[in-house]
Amino acid sequence: MSPVNSMRLELDRAAQDWDETGWPRPEVVVVSGSGLAVELGDPEGRETPLGQWLPFETHRIEGHPLKVQLLTTEQGRPVLYLKGRLHSYQGYDAHQTVFTIRLAATLGARTLVMTNAAGGLRGDQRPGDLILIRDQMNLTGLNPLRGELPSEWGPRFPDMTEPYSGRLRALALETAERLGMVLGQGNYAALAGPSYETPAEVTMLRRNGADMVGMSTALEIIAARHMGVECLALSVITNLAPGIGSGGVSHEEVLQEGKEASDRLQRLLTELLAQQRLTQPD
Ligand code: HPA
Repeated sequence: MSPVNSMRLELDRAAQDWDETGWPRPEVVVVSGSGLAVELGDPEGRETPLGQWLPFETHRIEGHPLKVQLLTTEQGRPVLYLKGRLHSYQGYDAHQTVFTIRLAATLGARTLVMTNAAGGLRGDQRPGDLILIRDQMNLTGLNPLRGELPSEWGPRFPDMTEPYSGRLRALALETAERLGMVLGQGNYAALAGPSYETPAEVTMLRRNGADMVGMSTALEIIAARHMGVECLALSVITNLAPGIGSGGVSHEEVLQEGKEASDRLQRLLTELLAQQRLTQPD
């Protein structure tokens, strides 16, 4: 059996396992980035290790707790919360990296809200800034749509004119303003990592219109858009990239800055999830 065919069976099996838990199927999926696994509500016992849903082995990395929660908002909306994600630099292939997104879409989630830690590529950015992703550059050299995918998942050549929903960005901006938070917007460049960027790479990214750089998100967004899911993503600037700020970059710094931004992120995400308009266009 081809790897893609076996993945389709594995996905169907995971969806069946989900239904056997008796948990409701999610309308929204939320994915948290490095050091950004904020609390979004009491799962009331509906929590499992992420590995339980994956047909392959996972490795842990610091700052990524890898848990799955099913939350219900006050309005009764079921939300699948993936606390921690898989990154291709850990050795996962592109299909494995997006397995949870495909599972969420298979279960019926139509909206994806994602966070990530990113390096700032602009001199006017500061660690702790929250930035909405307007558009992305997938520079990982990977694509989760490679291979013969089941046609019911989506088109062979999906349109990527609006990877991040303008409607959801407007909603996020309005929500942030109500909470008195400043929210910028920018283009996210995704590199495979895990080495951080060299100053020459930073210059190239900046000159070509990227505002922040990270090692996640882009493949998940491609898979989500392919399956017709509307996407919103927020970067937390955890450090300035080499040549933009002074000094180097460390994973500890990334996690620490992520923690400090967590409080604002938690308030913003909680408020967003409470809004009916998140899943219902006017
Ligand atoms: N580069 C790539 N990924 C990152 C960075 C960075 O500077 N900061 C947090 N994730």
